[in-house]
Amino acid sequence: MAANDNNREHLWSGRFGEPVADLVQRFTASIAFDQRLAEFDIEGSLAHARMLLAAGIIERADLAAIEKGLAQIRAEIRAGTLPWALEHEDVHFNIERRLTELAGEPGKRLHTARSRNDQVATDVRLYLRAAIDHVLALVKALQKQLLDLAEEHAETVMPGYTHMQPAQPVTFGHHLLAYFEMLARDAQRFAECRRRVNKLPLGAAALAGTSLPIDRLLVAKELGFDGVCENSIDAVSDRDFAIEFCAAAALAMTHLSRFCEEIILWMNPRFGFIELADRFCTGSSIMPQKKNPDVAELVRGKTGRVNGHLVALLTLMKGQPLAYNRDNQEDKEPLFDTVDTLMASLGVFREMLSGVKVNRECMAAAARQGHTTATDLAEYLVRKGVAFREAHEAVAQAVRFAESRGCELAELKLADLQRFCPVTGKDVFAALTLDGSVKSRAHIGATAPARVKAAVAKARKSLG
Ligand code: ARG
Repeated sequence: MAANDNNREHLWSGRFGEPVADLVQRFTASIAFDQRLAEFDIEGSLAHARMLLAAGIIERADLAAIEKGLAQIRAEIRAGTLPWALEHEDVHFNIERRLTELAGEPGKRLHTARSRNDQVATDVRLYLRAAIDHVLALVKALQKQLLDLAEEHAETVMPGYTHMQPAQPVTFGHHLLAYFEMLARDAQRFAECRRRVNKLPLGAAALAGTSLPIDRLLVAKELGFDGVCENSIDAVSDRDFAIEFCAAAALAMTHLSRFCEEIILWMNPRFGFIELADRFCTGSSIMPQKKNPDVAELVRGKTGRVNGHLVALLTLMKGQPLAYNRDNQEDKEPLFDTVDTLMASLGVFREMLSGVKVNRECMAAAARQGHTTATDLAEYLVRKGVAFREAHEAVAQAVRFAESRGCELAELKLADLQRFCPVTGKDVFAALTLDGSVKSRAHIGATAPARVKAAVAKARKSLG
């Protein structure tokens, strides 16, 4: 077969005696999913070509032709007119082919001192860097939404739970700020991960570098990388950065999922704590009365797939010898889907929160059940000089007595309380009310309304 007389011809065909089988072509091609790297591939190629000129490896006219060709290809991609061909395997070959069609000889010089191995690693890093910046903005927007809600509900009292049993009254704002903290750690993790993403693999070539006089630092600078991958073998084979991102994403999704679980419970009429806006719920095809929190359920469900992607990537890497192996092509779909799922979930979650209506009365009523101020009574007795263990025992008996009367601890008469704890005075009732209870826990990190307001202000500052 004469060179270049057939579209089936591969850029590596010279070595082969027959064309690749159709079946193999379909099996090995990645163009269906890696085309979304196209603009990053072009960005990387432009930086590489400019370096080749600076290093005296190509001529000024070559660079001009490459730049012109790549600009046209970018326009064709944006217009949707570039025909991605399965025969050309992946995004890198598709673009290189088209460039050679448009620019001729200079197009054939672009791949000097470069391999698809360092090229794809660079593309994925550029893609992920942009994705992380987007994710960070979405996390921040959600954090702001949470702060607005927390501030509004700094004084709203709800039952705090342990073991899913009523434990102690807390303010709803305080409860929401727990999620703010989780998201703050998520943001830190993404930012940390970005630092390791932002290193340049180009220059590693296939795995061993090149004998040509390249300037990797120049390319790194041009592409906004903080530095270069220090070892060429590691540069082409490392996917830690993708795994780290997926780990951070899985954790962020896990946080959202826990929140979703609570939202779903709170929506249940037995709780009745919140109402989601109609536009964020769906109905049933058979039960006319239904209003379901499907968005929250789906975010919870999608967490499973993101966790799965993390395991997929870890498993993808665990058996790979150095350096590049084609297995690595399998990193893209899990990574892309992780980014898409995380971004969609963060975005829709923020919107969902913006339409939450809180039923303060239901929350307070629930907080009054289950003797939730029993610990406050024990601490009241401690303030009167009783040893905590004794106070605990006395209050436990008072609770038992209240149970036998079918009432709440806070509803017992002073005389009844005094039977168990003689030092109890009239002032005990201030400690037994919901407001008294939450107000009294006012130290750093606690639930008092004043603390919540201060925490919101501090958190707002931290977001800048
Ligand atoms: N599509 C390939 C990938 O995603 C590009 C690198 C191919 N390299 C190779 N030596 N076949 O990993």
